[in-house]
Amino acid sequence: MINLILLGLPGAGKGTASESLVDRYHLAHISTGDMFREAISQKTPVGLEAKGYIDKGNLVPDEVTAKLVEERLTQKDTQKGFILDGFPRTTIQAELLEKITAKLNKPLTRVISIEVHEDVLIKRLSSRFICRTCGATYNKLSKPTKVEGVCDRCGGHDFYQREDDQPSVVKNRLRVNEKMNTPLRDFYHQKGLLAQVNGEQKPEKVFAEIDQILSQD
Ligand code: AP5
Repeated sequence: MINLILLGLPGAGKGTASESLVDRYHLAHISTGDMFREAISQKTPVGLEAKGYIDKGNLVPDEVTAKLVEERLTQKDTQKGFILDGFPRTTIQAELLEKITAKLNKPLTRVISIEVHEDVLIKRLSSRFICRTCGATYNKLSKPTKVEGVCDRCGGHDFYQREDDQPSVVKNRLRVNEKMNTPLRDFYHQKGLLAQVNGEQKPEKVFAEIDQILSQD
């Protein structure tokens, strides 16, 4: 059973690694960022609350986020294992998660932190673009579409840049997340769950490192 957390600053490649991990291990992929964006597009109460924080690059309050994750972890598809992508981001969230996983009897088996320097992250985030039809993520620098202007996955032609990938918001996202990153890694290091991978390699190599860690557990 794999119940995994992927840690990493914005743009570290958590979503990209998650895609390969889902293919390989058939885990439920739980991205709090994706869940918030879906709630925003549906204009739910959680979405309306989250929007104000996300648009500025700030964190949504811990309790709101933890409640969303708790509800998600009660769903059936998480029984065969899950990836938490983007949660927890604060030690308070990590403590709340401990209570949730104990209550649901779904203990964490591994925490992997994807390490990338800030200058690389800024470039990556400003070059990311997403297919509006299917949500596939690309990058002008590292992962362009095979045919220019056509989504590899669905053939769609409509792409967009995330609002929070604008340079001014990216700076704040990095500042906010960096503050919490070390305490969070320490938290899981003390529990003997933490492994770190070099996220500045090609995505296939990053995945191979993660895969090796998981296959040795
Ligand atoms: P969220 O959507 O989770 O954003 P994030 O953590 O900022 O992460 P990203 O999705 O930007 O990056 P990623 O690490 O997944 O990188 P990706 O694989 O896409 O959260 C958005 C907002 O929601 C937060 O700011 C906050 O407001 C709120 N929120 C979410 N969770 C919360 C929580 N727990 N508590 C409170 N608030 C919360 O890759 C990025 C780009 O790089 C892509 O273009 C990709 O193609 C490219 N790339 C990936 N890997 C590589 C590689 N190895 N080499 C070259 N390019 C690469």
